[in-house]
Amino acid sequence: MDPKARCESRGEKAACPLKCKSRKCQAYKAPIDTSKKPIVWILGGPGSGKGTQCEKIIAKYGFTHLSTGDLLRAEVKSGSDRAKTLTAIMERGELVPNEIVLELLKEAMLAKADEAKGFLVDGYPREKSQGIAFESAIAPVTVIIYFEASSETLTKRLLGRAASSGRADDNEDTIKLRLKTFLDNNDQVLAQYPDKLKRINAEDSVDNIFSQVVAVLDPIVAAN
Ligand code: AP5
Repeated sequence: MDPKARCESRGEKAACPLKCKSRKCQAYKAPIDTSKKPIVWILGGPGSGKGTQCEKIIAKYGFTHLSTGDLLRAEVKSGSDRAKTLTAIMERGELVPNEIVLELLKEAMLAKADEAKGFLVDGYPREKSQGIAFESAIAPVTVIIYFEASSETLTKRLLGRAASSGRADDNEDTIKLRLKTFLDNNDQVLAQYPDKLKRINAEDSVDNIFSQVVAVLDPIVAAN
């Protein structure tokens, strides 16, 4: 019998000597206990206000914030071997391969697994397969907040931000491509989670939008 299969068949819940992390293993312990630490996915088109609302959520609930865009920009700045490839993909407004995104995300989440009160995962998943991979590699999502706004609003906000953001992807051509990538994938992502999805109108003021966010998160925090 190969060691992993032997491990999976162990009857008692002792520490796994092979550290196989197989979900079939009797000793398997999920790295994040979502009954105590909710996982919230924050979704929405480019410029929908994900980052703006995350700041307010962190201030109120003390959740740990993980933005896949920020993680990727940090990786680009680090000058790692893959930095050049990442820069090119992001400047084309396309999605970075999920192996890279998920690896960065998982590493960052596990590093905070003990101290986090909950996780805000901002900008992930952006395609159907990303959601499936996350739940299988990390933990099931608790709730999904989706900020809904028209393409016109999104474009206007990003062009407004472009003068000061210093982001290589905040220019008219890349904004069009980012929107296209978003629109090509978004419906499929949302359709996967009808019971966990909370749609919020993101065309309102920042504070009114946040009131709707609070109405979603308060009961979750109270139940944990
Ligand atoms: P990412 O950095 O996540 O960019 P994005 O999704 O395009 O979103 P933004 O950060 O630009 O906007 P936001 O929704 O946070 O809005 P914000 O609050 O800043 O991703 C960048 C790239 O990385 C992707 O294109 C892709 O290449 C790659 N990537 C990231 N995640 C990936 C993944 N999972 N898989 C593969 N690749 C991935 O607000 C925008 C502006 O609007 C601000 O000026 C703000 O002040 C203003 N504003 C906000 N709310 C309001 C409001 N209610 N009213 C008026 N103005 C408002």
